[in-house]
Amino acid sequence: MKVLIIGSGGREHAIAWKISKSDRVKKIYAAPGNPGIGEIGECFEINTNDIKSLFKLAKHLCVDLVVVGPEQPLAEGISDLFRKEGIPIFGPGKIAAQLESSKVFSKSFMAQCNVPTAPFDICSTLKEAISAIEKRNGRCAVKADGLAAGKGVFVCKSLLDAKHAVNSIMIDRKFGNSGNTVVVEDLLQGEEASILAVSDGEYIHLLEPTQDHKAIFDGDAGPNTGGMGAYSPVPLINNAKLAKIKQLIVNPVIQGMQAMGHPFIGLLYAGIMMVNDEPQVLEFNVRFGDPETQPIMLRLETDLVDIIEKAITKKLKDLPSIEWSEKASLCVVLASEGYPGSYKTGEIITGLTSVDTSDDLMVFHAGTKIKNKSIITAGGRVLGVTGRGTTISEARNTVYTAISQISFNGCHYRKDIGWRAIAK
Ligand code: AMP
Ligand code: GLY
Repeated sequence: MKVLIIGSGGREHAIAWKISKSDRVKKIYAAPGNPGIGEIGECFEINTNDIKSLFKLAKHLCVDLVVVGPEQPLAEGISDLFRKEGIPIFGPGKIAAQLESSKVFSKSFMAQCNVPTAPFDICSTLKEAISAIEKRNGRCAVKADGLAAGKGVFVCKSLLDAKHAVNSIMIDRKFGNSGNTVVVEDLLQGEEASILAVSDGEYIHLLEPTQDHKAIFDGDAGPNTGGMGAYSPVPLINNAKLAKIKQLIVNPVIQGMQAMGHPFIGLLYAGIMMVNDEPQVLEFNVRFGDPETQPIMLRLETDLVDIIEKAITKKLKDLPSIEWSEKASLCVVLASEGYPGSYKTGEIITGLTSVDTSDDLMVFHAGTKIKNKSIITAGGRVLGVTGRGTTISEARNTVYTAISQISFNGCHYRKDIGWRAIAK
């Protein structure tokens, strides 16, 4: 089998690594990929938003399966095109992808399907937005409707904060047309978890829960990033809670999409917050999480290609269960100095070859490049060091020991990934 992976992050390297372990896979391709993926497959310099060129590549390579990493190509309809042309692809079509690409669609859909989420107002004028934030005394989340690379959400505690958020989205147009409309919702308080589910449009298998660390600094301080680390399992989410999340959140969404005539084939990611022990949806993504996927892949024992293929061929029901390692796993992201703001690239990364990688320790590449035979930094999130151990603490020790061998100028990483689980 030949598999094409679209994307270039740590998530895609983790997916490629897991897929490379399948006996059924002969060749892995990636577009654009990264140097880590390049060690196990062949990479092609095509932008993830250039759907036409990706299509030509998939045809030319005669691939048997395409796995999409990031949201943008899904939001632009890559899956509709590939499916129409008979190329098996894992990811929802454009309409179902609006669960991520439009907060207005997503919140309205949740309301329609009775999925628990914070009460909200949809505001298409500044006047409406101001009235929605005043109604909440400024204690609210203000969200740009469209995609904003994870930066379009402002959590506000005062009227001043909320007005600033609304202004930057609607007046300064910080996210361009993504800010034509905003969602203003009640502020929730609680602990978060990422719940990932694979669906064939009808049947669902949940993956093991993970927890992300969005803030840049230790103690969850500083601005939000794409994610600075993640671990699995999550003590916050026991089996009973997971079953409840499936019943109250995942099932209604998959059923609702099917009823709309747009079955969701792919990976549904529910970002949830446990509020007084009850799950509330903060957001949906329509793709694997990054960095959540890195620890998940270290624990996954079932062949990922089998899972994906069963989802695409609407036979997920035939897969009795997904098997997981009893071990815990944890990923720490190494970022460039300045991220999530502006940062420098081109720093030489040393020590990668001294890390003894195995099924218990992997260094997933994200923002890296090869220059003059050296691996250099080429993005905000550079590497995701991911380890496995009998406990979260053991996995964490493995990861931080490996990190001590790697260095580049301005390397920043959180020293407290997994702190909530360890405190419990
Ligand atoms: P989202 O992209 O919608 O998940 O929002 C990004 C982050 O903002 C979430 O992970 C939460 O930490 C926070 N957030 C979003 N919505 C709310 C809310 N209603 N109340 C409190 N925090 C929120
Ligand atoms: N880690 C958050 C995300 O993938 O959107």
